[in-house]
Amino acid sequence: MKDKIIIGNMKMNLTLNDINYYLENIKGIRYDKLVLCPTNIYIPYFLNHNIKVGIQNVFYKDMGSFTGEVSAYQASSLGINYAIVGHSERRNIFNETNEDINKKLKHILENNLTPILCIGEKKDEDMKVVLEKDINEALKDISNIDKIIIAYEPVWAIGTNIIPTNEKIEDTIKFIKDYIKEKFNCDILVLYGGSININNIELLNKINNVDGFLIGGASLKVDEFTQIIKCIIN
Ligand code: PGA
Repeated sequence: MKDKIIIGNMKMNLTLNDINYYLENIKGIRYDKLVLCPTNIYIPYFLNHNIKVGIQNVFYKDMGSFTGEVSAYQASSLGINYAIVGHSERRNIFNETNEDINKKLKHILENNLTPILCIGEKKDEDMKVVLEKDINEALKDISNIDKIIIAYEPVWAIGTNIIPTNEKIEDTIKFIKDYIKEKFNCDILVLYGGSININNIELLNKINNVDGFLIGGASLKVDEFTQIIKCIIN
């Protein structure tokens, strides 16, 4: 079994004091496939700590008059290696479309960051229909699809403490991998995300075809998060 990728999506949380405590307590963890995605303004504090750093969102132009935005071109100049793209909060709160996400993916790949593309259905939606549409529209005209990591995050599982069964996650990951193989003839890594915590990680870690996890809320509490990491990697 390959080493699993662990992504912490810290969203718009924590203050500078919290960050100092966090860094002090995460430093015992040495794991090459751990990626932390802090709020943008805290990113410089996380660099040079033997942790890979990701950005939660980028705009698709290199530089220019786009107040409040940050590009993968700029992120790359700082030594950031990963970029989350198409998170459901971006799609639902900030009205991001698959067309925007497609532009962002191209921009991220051009700047040699690894994109983590989030896809997932809402409660009342047909999972396969949504995933096929997201995959086709987001990956349109992209040639190096094997450089993209997909995070399957059912929207109804994010921050709700409700998770699909292991069987359901395994089937969905298989569906995504098979679909991409058939359409684009390439193999892709697929993570699971949504309400992962210290109580369910042992069970989720048993899923055969999962390549890692995207963790939101539970990545904020450094003590819980380090326990989760240890459970995944041991
Ligand atoms: P959660 O968030 O772990 O708090 O459910 C996951 C995510 O939004 O990526």
